[in-house]
Amino acid sequence: MLQMTKSAALYERAKAVMPGGCSRNTILRKPHPVYAAYGKGCYVEDIEGTKRIDFANNVASLIHGHAHPQIVDAVQSQLSKGTAFTVGTEIEVKYAELLVNRCKSFEKLRFVNSGTEAVMSCIKAARAHTGRPKIAKAEGSYHGLYDYAEVSQTANPSNWGSKTAPASVPVARGTPQSALDDVIVIPYNDPERAIEILNAHKDELAGVLLDLLPHRIGLIPAHADFVAALREWTLQNGALLIIDEVITLRTQFGGAQEPYDFSPDLTAMGKMIGGGFPVGAIAGRADVLEVMNPLNGPAAFPHYGTFSANPVTMTAGSVAMQMFDHAAVDKLNKLSEKARTGIAEAIKISGVPACVTGGGSMFRIHFRETAPTTYRDAYVGPEEQACISSLLDHFFANGFLMIETCTGVLSTPMTQFEIDRLCEVTLEGLRKINPKH
Ligand SMILES: Cc1ncc(COP(=O)(O)O)c(C=O)c1O
Repeated sequence: MLQMTKSAALYERAKAVMPGGCSRNTILRKPHPVYAAYGKGCYVEDIEGTKRIDFANNVASLIHGHAHPQIVDAVQSQLSKGTAFTVGTEIEVKYAELLVNRCKSFEKLRFVNSGTEAVMSCIKAARAHTGRPKIAKAEGSYHGLYDYAEVSQTANPSNWGSKTAPASVPVARGTPQSALDDVIVIPYNDPERAIEILNAHKDELAGVLLDLLPHRIGLIPAHADFVAALREWTLQNGALLIIDEVITLRTQFGGAQEPYDFSPDLTAMGKMIGGGFPVGAIAGRADVLEVMNPLNGPAAFPHYGTFSANPVTMTAGSVAMQMFDHAAVDKLNKLSEKARTGIAEAIKISGVPACVTGGGSMFRIHFRETAPTTYRDAYVGPEEQACISSLLDHFFANGFLMIETCTGVLSTPMTQFEIDRLCEVTLEGLRKINPKH
């Protein structure tokens, strides 16, 4: 009789105690998940002893890969001094100082524990500041699990409605209708339609939530005219512009907002700024963030969080972000550009109708000749999904970890060697899909 692998056996135990056998659906793969034994730099070895190059980096959260010696040393030294207190720590203050100096729109900030919490806090701050109930967001964009932030994240052709009036589609069954009614869905990269929709709700909108390089919308950049239109509209109508940089902060020293000609009111952060530990942060205009200040009477937005700004996360995050300086950002982005160019070359050689999108230290492969520009364009149908799944399987079998949309993110320990390997394996995978070339 065939013997079960260690991972298969572990998954059987997992299914007995956790719904779906896990705490986050992200780790699932067929026929069972793989389980990590250890990670070092840009490599992860699983419990079967297979080593893979990690282009998933815990869904874009590990900018220096795994177990970076400087982060490990700093965290170890903090661990022996305590991990969480009901009093403040100096490292929280130092880290806040470091982050507010990274981006001109960060006048003040507060730490939280996840990207979901950061986006939720931005939305609550915007409501508290403006006294208005609604938010607007781009159809298809992922901003975490808060009821309002997840509206229309998975909208599909059967329920997304017309382009001029996109429907507010729930993700979770049981989402209250009132939450759906309080979210106005706008089409990504379509300034004219977006402004028309916003105008119809102008007195009720607390803010517009936007990701400038949304992974779920094809990893395609927000066009400058779309961003400019939203900035102008929010300024004219007393609403706030909230930028979700939970992933995209890694794209530039000051985040994806840096190259654009605007300054948002609020920014949500997470992932990379935890240095490998759970984290989130809300940054932005000091006068807006006053809603969280309880010193002059009850705060308009009372804000707590048992593990917020715990010294382990603060230590790891501040070491990680100090190491991700201008030179490191530049080096990583140049290497990533080589990866995107190499993948584009592999696509050309293979003759497969495909393309690569992305920016900063990220890329995503699409099975269509022209890069999409909107969510409805980027929507993955069954045929494209079959190609994506087969390429993902090929990557996995050949020693790569990728994000499930066929997206990859780089980490600073990567070198030209890993990029060359990525491009070779991409070409082999594409040739399997189009065996004529
Ligand atoms: C753009 C964006 N916003 C928010 C989140 C939520 O972050 P977290 O998973 O830390 O709650 C994510 C997570 O993938 C994200 O990609």
